[in-house]
Amino acid sequence: MAWPSNRLLIGNGASEFIDLIMRLAPGGAYRVGPFIASYKEYERAAKVAGRTVIPHSDKATKAGVTVIIHPNSPSGEFMELPELELIVQAAQAEGGVVLVDESFMPHMGPNWHAHSALTLVEKYPATVLVVNSWTKIWCCPGLRLGSVACAEQWYNIMKKNQTPWSCNNMAQAFCAAVAADEEFQLQTWKLLPEWRQRQQDLITALGWTFNTASPLWVPWVFVDCGSAEVAERAAAAAQDAGCPVRWCASFDCPSRLRLGIRTPSQQDQLQQAWCKMLGK
Ligand SMILES: Cc1ncc(COP(=O)(O)O)c(C=O)c1O
Repeated sequence: MAWPSNRLLIGNGASEFIDLIMRLAPGGAYRVGPFIASYKEYERAAKVAGRTVIPHSDKATKAGVTVIIHPNSPSGEFMELPELELIVQAAQAEGGVVLVDESFMPHMGPNWHAHSALTLVEKYPATVLVVNSWTKIWCCPGLRLGSVACAEQWYNIMKKNQTPWSCNNMAQAFCAAVAADEEFQLQTWKLLPEWRQRQQDLITALGWTFNTASPLWVPWVFVDCGSAEVAERAAAAAQDAGCPVRWCASFDCPSRLRLGIRTPSQQDQLQQAWCKMLGK
């Protein structure tokens, strides 16, 4: 699928567009997605732009921006397009926009475009903007590389308001090189679900649970350790073992961990540390 370049803006990470859209979108609140917790940068950017933050269930307050993280981080659920389209139609009716964050969508597999909100940009040009961070699928957290795909009218508004020379040459060269590396993509799509299944089995062996509503291609497991105390100790033990995981207290989920999918040998190293911690 070739996306037209006059509707794709490249920038200094997805964060640049999260910030820009919160400032430039129609007035009104920021309505969060219908998930237990979501990536917090949206809340920061919304507040800086003078927006109040409302839960997804609040349909009485007008929202200028609704954000759907697709799949959602950290909980890992994935919303299919018919459900997403209903949210878009509701936003259109109230004069707001829907920012769909697809930073982890390319992990789905070779057919990810068919499930992407990019199709909704065509259908609802005034309402849907799709943001991506390209440091996830290509594993380069040190670089800044993000994009927004949107209708031409939004492209022009954002281009005008974007900092000039936003995306540097290094990030552009990296993008051109990795986009051509088909073998890396194929390996990711093959290995990720296998390694994720393996990681889930290890979590079950520890007596912990995880969000089973999250599909296997999502590159992390949302683990429930049963208590905040155990989750905090588990995060510290993981750090000491050289396999850091994300303790989700800052998402108001203190008993949970967001556990990125690593190689089998790294999974075993982490499991050893957690078995020791639990006296297993
Ligand atoms: C869901 C999601 N969106 C956006 C971002 C920010 O991306 P970037 O580093 O490209 O600004 C992150 C970073 O972790 C993320 O998890």
